Formats: sequence, C-alpha cells, structure tokens
Amino acid sequence: MSESQLLSVPEGLPEFVFVTCQVGAEQALRREVGRRFPQWRGAFARKGLVTFKIPLEDRPTLWLHPPELILARAWGFSWGVYRVEDLEQLRPTVVELVNRFGCKGLHVWSRDRAEPGHFDYEPAVTALDIECAKTLRQMLAPRVLKTWVGPGVVVLDVMQVDPGVWLLGVHRTTDCPTSRWPGGLSRVRLPEDAVSRAYLKMEEALRWSALPIRSGQWCAELGAAPGGSSQALLRRGLRVLGIDPAQVHPTVANHPHFVHIRRKARYVKRRIFRRVRWLFADMNVTPNYTLDVVEDIVTRPDVNIWGMLLTLKLTDWKLVDQAPRYIRRVQSWGYPVVRMRQLHHHRRELCLMAAVAPVEQLARRSRPRRTKDAPCPRRPSQTKASSASDSSAQDCVVP
Ligand SMILES: C[S@@+](CC[C@H](N)C(=O)[O-])C[C@H]1O[C@@H](n2cnc3c(N)ncnc32)[C@H](O)[C@@H]1O
Repeated sequence: MSESQLLSVPEGLPEFVFVTCQVGAEQALRREVGRRFPQWRGAFARKGLVTFKIPLEDRPTLWLHPPELILARAWGFSWGVYRVEDLEQLRPTVVELVNRFGCKGLHVWSRDRAEPGHFDYEPAVTALDIECAKTLRQMLAPRVLKTWVGPGVVVLDVMQVDPGVWLLGVHRTTDCPTSRWPGGLSRVRLPEDAVSRAYLKMEEALRWSALPIRSGQWCAELGAAPGGSSQALLRRGLRVLGIDPAQVHPTVANHPHFVHIRRKARYVKRRIFRRVRWLFADMNVTPNYTLDVVEDIVTRPDVNIWGMLLTLKLTDWKLVDQAPRYIRRVQSWGYPVVRMRQLHHHRRELCLMAAVAPVEQLARRSRPRRTKDAPCPRRPSQTKASSASDSSAQDCVVP
C-alpha cells in the first residue's frame, strides 16, 4: 500500500466509536476518555463495551492516529448495532462496509461475559467466533479478508454483543500490535508446563511493548515467584535475577540461567542490578510501593536499565485516574517513552512500559555488536560525570 493510500481518510466515517474493555472497567474507562476527550459523549453501552458520539472534526485524526487508551482492549468506528436471527441478514451491511472502506482484514469476537477469573472465565476468541468469521468470509468471497494483518490496514470489526446482536465497525491498524489482534485478544497460549498464569501476562506484555530484549542479556524480575514470567523470559534466552521472598518452582529455580534472590525487593543490594538491562515487576503491592522500589533501583548512577515492564495492581479502579501522575513520575527518572495498558491477560492490574529511547532506536542499540567494548545507551538523565565515575563500565558491554 502506498503512503498516500495509507494516510488518506475515507469518506463517510461514522460519528460513533466503540471501545471494549474488561468487565468492571467501564466507569474507569469513561473517566479516562473524559480526561482525554472531554467533548466525547457516552452512548450505547454494555458490560465490557462503551460507545461514544464524537465531534465530526475529530474523525480524521482518530482514523489516522488512534489514541492509546489504557483501558481500551479494542476500539474502532461503530457503524451500528444490528439484531438479526441469521448472520446472512448482515450481508448487505457487511458488503457495503467492505466496499466503502476498502477493508482487507476481518476481526470477529464476542463481548466479555464476565470479569476475568470469575468462575474461571477467561476472555478469548471463541470457537463460535471462528465459525462466524468463516461464514462471513464465505459471504465476502472472492474477496479475501485476513485476520492477522500488518499496520495501516483497514479491518472490518464484527463483534457479538449478545446472542443475535452484532456491532459492526471499522478500524485502521497501527504499529501497536493489539490493533491487529481480533478484539485486542492476543493469541498467546499457556504452555502445558507453565508454572503460573503470569507466563501469559509476560508474553503478551513483551509482544505489546516490543521491547527489543536479546538472548544472553540480563534482566531482573521483582516478584518472581512461583515463576511463570521468568519462565517466559528464560525461554527467550534471557538470564534472570528473580527477586522474591517466596519459593520459586523447581523448573525455574534449577534453570542454569536463573538466580533466585530470596528477599523483598527493598532489601536487595543495588549493585546486583549493574548488569541488568531490563527490569520487570509483578509484586502484589500497591502501585506506589512498586514505583518507590523501582525508582530506588533505576536512578542509581551505576545502574543502567534500558527498559521496564511493571505490573501495577489496582486495588481500586480509581487508581487508573492516577495514570498521568505515574507516567510523569517514571519519565522524571530518565525514561521519556512511557506507555500504559490493561492487557488481555490482566486481572485487575495494568502494565506500565518504559524505555530510555523509542523501541526502534533501542533495537538498534540492543543488537549484538561485533566490537567487544560497544558502550551501552545511557538514560538521558545520566550525566557525563556519573558515567565517567561508573565503576561498572565493563558491565555495560552489550553481551
Ligand atoms: C502475582 S505474584 C508474582 C507472579 C510471578 N511474576 C510469576 O511469574 O509467577 C506476586 C509476588 O510478589 C511477591 N512480593 C510481594 N511483595 C514483594 C516484595 N516487596 N519484594 C519482592 N516480592 C514481593 C510475592 O511473594 C508473590 O510471589
């Protein structure tokens, strides 16, 4: 697709947008939207789904540069909600949408039925969603609409709101991978030997954030027991310092690239972080506690963490209102790139991603180098003086 096609705004975009979220997050999502877009008006809503009427003049910007809302799992322009007995009755509208907007992708999914974890409920693309997608594809043949598409592709959204009730819409995919997953639902699966569900959260967070972690690098996880996320990191070839007073599962504890430090994060000697490039946190403590501990680690002059993924536990949905404060705080440590999102596999928690530079730039720096003494990137706040007196300069050689 040419750049001009990529950047063109189609005629006739609807004046409603839909946003899906975890069941229970609707109010907090409305407040988040209210803070960022005070001119949007709440419209049709169900558990896990909120729609808004938007000003006409906002439509082109939203099409080209969709906002990253913390609590939005999926979002798009809403064409309307249809009550039908048979999917076939959607044919005229579906065909019109595909032709009008030049859809090349198709995402079919269902609204969440319950809060994640409630009676073991896990949000996911269901077998019925896959069946419906098949029927829609047959309806649209010989056109081929793919599920897994790249950035800048127009996707037809078909969401089952209730049995026989469908929301039809469109969105343009972006660099953010979640815009390319049906309903923002990742396809990460829990391996049979995973020692905890945290494996899923870590895999999804790594895919969403695109942090350029490389095999052989050191990372640390605060709150590592029983070890699912460390397992995911070890599988990607990282060397892991797992910090947790609790017991780590033997599968992880006995891994040759895992070191268990059986202490609370606050009481761990800071010098052990000198080789660490990536910091992860998943402690069941308040967001402020996590941020206090992390600040104490990453702001030391002899510590040089390139990027972080911090799980912030929401004891109360109102904590989401503090997001701008959390972001400013992390930026003040020398991490200009900060994003936050509630991921598909999250319970009542959020992921905060931070990096010392945009990930594409970090990826270039993080690549294994031929010259042994290549310097590692510094946080913008790290002064020349502190680097010069950095006794761990040798530790900063990219492995
Ligand atoms: C949700 S679990 C972590 C799951 C883990 N990431 C995994 O992959 O299985 C929360 C963990 O935080 C640990 N924790 C709580 N407070 C902590 C602290 N101050 N320092 C380190 N770990 C802490 C708990 O012991 C518990 O194991």
